[in-house]
Amino acid sequence: MKHDVIERRVGLLGVLTVVAVSLGGLAEIVPLMMDTQGTAPAAGVEPYTALQLEGRDVYIREGCYNCHSQMIRPFRAETERYGEYSLAGESVYDHPFQFGSKRTGPDLARVGGRYSDEWHRIHLINPRDLVPESNMPGFPWLVDSEINADKTPIKLERLRAVGVPYTDEQIAGASAAVAGKSQMDALIAYLQGLGISSKQR
Ligand code: HEC
Repeated sequence: MKHDVIERRVGLLGVLTVVAVSLGGLAEIVPLMMDTQGTAPAAGVEPYTALQLEGRDVYIREGCYNCHSQMIRPFRAETERYGEYSLAGESVYDHPFQFGSKRTGPDLARVGGRYSDEWHRIHLINPRDLVPESNMPGFPWLVDSEINADKTPIKLERLRAVGVPYTDEQIAGASAAVAGKSQMDALIAYLQGLGISSKQR
């Protein structure tokens, strides 16, 4: 049988295996390279405002991602609880993304608009004031912590360098947009923007 010829020659078998695996690989990889679904922004997704961007940095610095994911999987139990499942195109302006997989607390991908700013403020200062059984730590110092507004334009510029379409006006106005705001204000602005685009779908 022809198969015998191949199986008796290790070198030939190796070469043909590489060819077969490469073809399979190309069939999977090439369409993804052509597809813009994961790289183009989903409908309604805008770059973060200067204040939201500062809030996002607070979110990362305080390690909120250690307890909160930002990715709703396409399972009924998840979509019933959190809302529409997450799309790759919702995270195109996230560098780095905050998908996460650890859920000590609930997923936050759709938390924007679910509570008032005041709810978040009280909750972030001491979660047990609103959710008595909560084991989330409080972050009271954010109320008195200022944002370093001098650094904000640089953050927007760096993100523009990796493809986030900030305009010159947005960069020029970034310091003024965050001046006088606390880190708490910024974090709440960030949370209130999460998943907003999916509500327009
Ligand atoms: C040690 C784990 C832990 C950390 C760290 C943590 N959280 Fe939580 N978070 C929880 C838990 C548990 C809940 C659910 C109980 C509650 O609402 O307090 C929660 C609830 C929330 C909610 C309400 C979500 C909803 O849908 O009801 C928000 C918003 C939130 N956290 C934001 C944050 C932010 C912002 C940070 C970082 C500054 C943070 N959390 C850090 C554990 C954590």
